[in-house]
Amino acid sequence: MGHQAFWKKTDTDTSEKQAGEELWEQERNIRDNKMEVSILAIPENEQLARMLVTAFVMPLNPTIEELSDIKTAVSEAVTNAIIHGYPKELFFGEEKYVHITCRNEEHTLHVKIQDEGVGIEDVKKAMEPMYTTKPELERSGMGFAFMEAFMDGILVKSKLQKGVTVIMNKTIGKEVCHE
Ligand SMILES: Nc1ncnc2c1ncn2[C@@H]1O[C@H](COP(=O)(O)OP(=O)(O)OP(=O)(O)O)[C@@H](O)[C@H]1O
Ligand SMILES: [Mg+2]
Repeated sequence: MGHQAFWKKTDTDTSEKQAGEELWEQERNIRDNKMEVSILAIPENEQLARMLVTAFVMPLNPTIEELSDIKTAVSEAVTNAIIHGYPKELFFGEEKYVHITCRNEEHTLHVKIQDEGVGIEDVKKAMEPMYTTKPELERSGMGFAFMEAFMDGILVKSKLQKGVTVIMNKTIGKEVCHE
């Protein structure tokens, strides 16, 4: 009897352990996903871009703070594409797009914001805090600084007259302790 009980207990332990391991595996192996969208480059669509990226990120269970960081970074990049990439004086009436790609590898989000606008002559200079080419529009020149601060990494590529590509990444749930 004692022997039986011993085996039963061991059985339970094993299956509990297995279930625990499976859960951990499921949690770790969040399915890699990808989204590609092109939105019309009009100021109203900045909100749409934020919502699209939010919807993509939700299955990764971000904290409110992580979500807010991502939304801010996306807003800054999309606003830049709309305002600086396609300035009204050059593109008025033209149908121009901002391309957004989101990809996750497990818990790491990669987001790419791309335009085919005027481009940036000196990317390094443009990324300096407080640098702006539109002070008359009350721009503070902090967009890139916010993107850098709120995301884990940022890469900016540009060619004059070809546009700008901003690639950012952020790992979600780094604070979580899996005990
Ligand atoms: N997509 C883009 N196309 C062309 N130029 C860009 C683009 N994004 C940024 N820039 C240039 O880089 C500069 C710095 O961008 P940043 O977002 O840091 O500041 P800002 O947009 O001028 O001001 P803020 O973002 O604080 O309102 C811009 O003033 C603009 O000259
Ligand atoms: Mg900006």
